[in-house]
Amino acid sequence: MELSVVILAAGKGTRMKSVLPKVMQPLAGRPLLRHVVDTARGLNAAHTLVVYGHGGDLVQKAFAADALLWAEQAEQKGTGHAVQMVLPQLPASGKTLILYGDVPLTTAATLRLLIDKVDGENTLGLITLDMQNPGGYGRIVRNAAGMVQRIVEQKDASDAEKIITEVNTGIFCVPNALLHKWLPALKSNNAQGEYYLTDIIAMAAAENICINTIQPAHAWEVDGINDKLQLATLERAHQRVEADALMRAGVTLIDPARIDVRGSIHHGMDVHVEPNVVFEGRVVLGNNVHIGANCQLRDCEIGDNSTIKPNSLIDGAVVGAGAEIGPFARLRPGTVLADNVHIGNFVETKKAVIGKGSKANHLAYLGDADIGSGVNVGAGTITCNYDGVNKHLTTIGDNAFIGTNTSLIAPVTVGAGATTGAGSAISKDVPDNTLAVARGKQITIESWQRPKKKQ
Ligand code: UD1
Ligand code: CA
Repeated sequence: MELSVVILAAGKGTRMKSVLPKVMQPLAGRPLLRHVVDTARGLNAAHTLVVYGHGGDLVQKAFAADALLWAEQAEQKGTGHAVQMVLPQLPASGKTLILYGDVPLTTAATLRLLIDKVDGENTLGLITLDMQNPGGYGRIVRNAAGMVQRIVEQKDASDAEKIITEVNTGIFCVPNALLHKWLPALKSNNAQGEYYLTDIIAMAAAENICINTIQPAHAWEVDGINDKLQLATLERAHQRVEADALMRAGVTLIDPARIDVRGSIHHGMDVHVEPNVVFEGRVVLGNNVHIGANCQLRDCEIGDNSTIKPNSLIDGAVVGAGAEIGPFARLRPGTVLADNVHIGNFVETKKAVIGKGSKANHLAYLGDADIGSGVNVGAGTITCNYDGVNKHLTTIGDNAFIGTNTSLIAPVTVGAGATTGAGSAISKDVPDNTLAVARGKQITIESWQRPKKKQ
């Protein structure tokens, strides 16, 4: 049966107290809805339909590249009403998985289990969960034989029903033909005056449809998010899962509670991560990479045996093997470091290609720079790459020595083996193997006397 996915995302999210629509709130650096849409893609759904309401324009813009079908639910009249909104776009046959834009972490494995339970027009599936404190949730009412009869919402439940600990997660898989038949027949004669999607379960029981239930492998898979507290709680649960996977794969995490992974990490053996490191985007770490405390690594590659010392930011950079970066280094996009490069404290690089074994150990800005191998960049060196309008390139040849506090006024080339004197403002090219000194000459005034304090 062809699979469609319907994602309900019309909720306002008032309790978020945010201008951002609820489904755009980030978890692990990605909007809640992004997690759900990506999960749907992983299931190879033929159609993914999103029911939107509040903040719809912003949401649609953020997902413009995703080939989603959209259905507006202008007024929120319940989950059943929300699914009614997609009926005109839903194929007559096949099956539909119903997900929620604010339930971000359901795994594809759990959903596949559910989808596989629906193998004809006379079965449907739902995910239920046993909860110690089921308050607020719809309860699963079963008969003496254990067969699901209906779902009763908390507000409509009798005292006997409120004792039931098996709850509805809201995630259903239903043949399209049944949705087309049942949804228009929903009534809102209940405590909340809403059209409940959950009422289709009683309809199914009445028609002897086989109702299969599964439970998720982990409770966090079906956690929904309504406020920032739940968002943070689920974020930590998710980060713990990421941390556990990294440790099982051989990464040493000094504290698995103090790591954030907002993307993917590909790594070799014997990677060591100190506390409070944030990984974003696609990060590739070689063997024996050591990352110090409080570093942020985004979309970067770090070669074997490299050390990133504490408080360094690495963004859009490629770092070779045997590098020493930081503490307090900032590598910006376009930085490409060959093997054995040292970038020390308070050094910023941007679009800087730096050759093997070169060093900039303290206090420098290397932007739009092409630097050879074996170069020593003195403390306080600045590439003056910007003339106020355009950016210009600084080229430094192999084994050059850039004296302390050199200003390299680009475009400019310092030749191989050349030296610049400390404090020089270099605006003309320096030939290979020469010394360039461009600073005021020191003079000595022997008769000079210090001013004396007035009485
Ligand atoms: C629903 C279920 C309940 C279940 C619970 C799990 C119904 C009637 N009840 O409760 O059995 O235990 O989820 O969390 O289905 N939404 C819309 N449009 C609407 C109403 C809701 O898009 O008109 C979306 C919300 O944005 C949210 C989801 O549907 O993502 C669930 O809505 P919510 O109000 O949280 O669920 P309940 O109705 O309380
Ligand atoms: Ca809810």
